Amino acid sequence: MTTATKPRQPVLKTPLPGPKSADIIARDKQHLSTSYMRPYPFVPDHGEGVWLTDVDGNTMLDFFAGIAVSTTGHAHPHVVQAVQKQIEKFTHVCLTDYPQEITTSLAERLVKHVEKPGEKWRVFFSNSGAEAVEAAVKLARNHTGRQHIISTMGSFHGRTYGAITLTGSKTKYKRGFGPLLPAVSHVPYPNPFRPPLGSTPETCGQAVLEHIESLFVGILPADEVAAIIVEPMQGEGGYIVPPADFLPGLRKLCDKHGILLIFDEVQAGMGRTGKMFSFQHFDVQPDIITSAKGIASGMPLGALLAKESVMTWPVGSHGSTYGGNPVAAAASHATLDLLEGKVKHDGCGESLMHNAAEVGEYIMAELKKMGQDFPFIGDVRGKGLFIGIEFVKPDGSPDGALRDRASMDMFEKGLLNLDCGEAVIRISPPLILTKEEAATGLEMMRRTFEAMK
Ligand SMILES: Cc1ncc(COP(=O)(O)O)c(C=O)c1O
Repeated sequence: MTTATKPRQPVLKTPLPGPKSADIIARDKQHLSTSYMRPYPFVPDHGEGVWLTDVDGNTMLDFFAGIAVSTTGHAHPHVVQAVQKQIEKFTHVCLTDYPQEITTSLAERLVKHVEKPGEKWRVFFSNSGAEAVEAAVKLARNHTGRQHIISTMGSFHGRTYGAITLTGSKTKYKRGFGPLLPAVSHVPYPNPFRPPLGSTPETCGQAVLEHIESLFVGILPADEVAAIIVEPMQGEGGYIVPPADFLPGLRKLCDKHGILLIFDEVQAGMGRTGKMFSFQHFDVQPDIITSAKGIASGMPLGALLAKESVMTWPVGSHGSTYGGNPVAAAASHATLDLLEGKVKHDGCGESLMHNAAEVGEYIMAELKKMGQDFPFIGDVRGKGLFIGIEFVKPDGSPDGALRDRASMDMFEKGLLNLDCGEAVIRISPPLILTKEEAATGLEMMRRTFEAMK
C-alpha cells in the first residue's frame, strides 16, 4: 500500500546567497577569469535527482540541468556506479592511439540511433560541444575540398575560434577576438514566432531556403560551400522549433549542390525532446551530427557522428588526448541505459526519453493555459523537456527586462532556471523530472508571473 506524501519543496534556510556562498562568490570574483558571468548567487554543494543543495543548506528545484546537461539528474546511482567502476579499472590511456572496449561499444551504441538500412556511420569523440563542432567543420572541408560554411543567425556552436565564428547569437562572443575563421556566412533561422524575411509562420522555412538559393545566384558560389550547419531546434537563440518543411527542404538544397548537412544536436539532443536526436521529429537525415552536453550526464564528452561515406579524413589528421575518455564513456553508457529504458528509473515509465516526452507535454499544456492569464507570455514552444517561454511587451516586441526580472524572481523562490534568446526563459530540467516535481516548478512559476502583473 502506498501512502500519499506531500511533494518535496525547495528549502530556503538563508537569504541567497547565504554566508558560506557569499564567501565563495567573493573568492571566485578575486581569482577566476573575468569572463565568467555570475547572474545567480548559488554555490552548489551536492545534488540528488532534480534537487540541488548549496553550501548553506538551501535546496533548489533544478529546471535547467546545467544548461541541458544533467540528463539523469544529480548523482544518479546508476551513473555514479558506472563511473566508480571504470575509475577503479583505468582512467586514461589515449583513444587517439589505443582502442578501448568501453568507447568502441559506445560508438556502436550511438550509431544505432541514426543508421538507416544500407548506411553506416562512424564516431569521433571529443571533450565538449565546441570541439565536436570544430571537428565537423574540419571534416566537412577535408571531405569536400571546399571551404565555405553556412550557419544561422541566433545560433550557438561554442567558444573556440571555428565554433565562435559559426555562432550567430551575440556580438559579445566575437568583439575583440577577430580575425575569426574566414569563409563563413549566416542566414536567418526560421522562427515561426518571429518569421524572418517578411514571411509568415507557415512560410518562414521556405523563405529561408529561397534566401540561401538567392545567395548562390549572386554572392556565394554553391560549389564552394562545404557544409550548412544548423541546430535542428535552436537552443541559445531562444528554444525555437522550425516549421516541419524546413529541415527536409534544407536536405534537398544540400543534395542539389553537393553540400554536407551538419546538425548540431549539442543542446537539443540525447533524448531531451523525447527522441534521441531532435532532428528525428522531422523526415530528414543529416551527413554529420555533433553531440555533447546530455551525452554523459555531466562528465565531459562530445561526439561527432558522420556517415562512413563522409568520414574520409586520413589517419592521424585529427585526434584528442582526452576525447573519448573511458570514465566519461562509462557515464555515457549509463546515461544511454536510462534514456533507452534498458535500466528503469522509478516513476519515469519505460525510459527517460519517454518521460521527457510525457512530462514535457504536460508542462507545455500547463504553461499554455497559464499564458491566457498573463498577456506578457507571448509564446510557449518546444518539444519534450526543451521548452521556451517568450516574454513580450504589449506591442508584441520582446521584453528582455521583464524576462530578467521573472528569471530572478523564480530563482529567489527556489527554482533554478536560465534565460536564452532576447526574452526567453528556457526550461531544460533533468529528464527524470516527474509530473509531481513539474507541478511544483509550475506553481513557483505561476507565483512569479502573478508578481510580474
Ligand atoms: C547547440 C550548441 N552547440 C555547441 C555548444 C558548445 O558546447 P560546449 O560548451 O560543450 O563547448 C553549445 C553550448 O551551449 C550548444 O548549445
